[in-house]
Amino acid sequence: MSIVLQATGIVAGYGEVEILHGVSLSVQEGEMVAVIGPNGAGKSTLLKTIFGLLPVREGTVLLRGEDVTNQPPDRIVTKGMSFVPQTENVFPSLSVNENLEMGAFIRRDGLRERLERAYDLFPDLTARRGDRAGQLSGGQRQMLALARALMLDPDVLLLDEPSASLSPKMVDSLFEKIGEINRTGTAILLVEQNAREALAKSQQAYVLAMGENRLEGKAADLLDNEEVAKLYLGSDLNDA
Ligand SMILES: Nc1ncnc2c1ncn2[C@@H]1O[C@H](COP(=O)(O)OP(=O)(O)O)[C@@H](O)[C@H]1O
Ligand SMILES: [Mg+2]
Repeated sequence: MSIVLQATGIVAGYGEVEILHGVSLSVQEGEMVAVIGPNGAGKSTLLKTIFGLLPVREGTVLLRGEDVTNQPPDRIVTKGMSFVPQTENVFPSLSVNENLEMGAFIRRDGLRERLERAYDLFPDLTARRGDRAGQLSGGQRQMLALARALMLDPDVLLLDEPSASLSPKMVDSLFEKIGEINRTGTAILLVEQNAREALAKSQQAYVLAMGENRLEGKAADLLDNEEVAKLYLGSDLNDA
């Protein structure tokens, strides 16, 4: 297996404040990797920095071995990485179909086929294709954001808390879709509050705390890890 994404010693932050103090992680081809950790640990900051939305102050980001450190997102996306932020991940005033077209803005060839594939993967969106994204339910909107990010066939997809604020039933079907996307060969770097679900679905996992790597290993081992169970799987320990 080869490494699709490798971030090494990432230092980043906002203004004077340093949030990430040298975080490293890697994602193998086709793998699903979870990043969990308490609120404020720097998970979103890490994804934004990897994707070029925040400056990398120290460290490197390699995509398929190519150095993409501090390249702008619109360049990174052409090289095989897509990002679904936690919020504001669709254009609410544009239609579903227009949102998908925007996802493919740099590649007009094969647009029809790629639109068809998106609707095949997310049949619920088909009936809504002419509706504004702002009219969709929370779950449908997350599906649209995923579909949009897939329009350029990324090698690796970064997802920031896709299940946040969804009903339990929607969470299940969303994770099912994410699994489906992963099985078609797209590697996924998944940041989740829903730690148990994320670990159950992933092969590898990282625990981030206070802007540093805290633990890492096989996701199944972290599920069994006492510290992880106590700190991050807390409230739902009993319904396992
Ligand atoms: N735009 C911002 N400006 C300043 N500080 C921020 C900004 N976004 C996040 N932070 C701070 O960075 C730290 C990490 O936040 P974040 O990466 O969102 O953590 P997580 O996603 O793990 O909850 C927090 O202390 C947060 O307050
Ligand atoms: Mg976050």
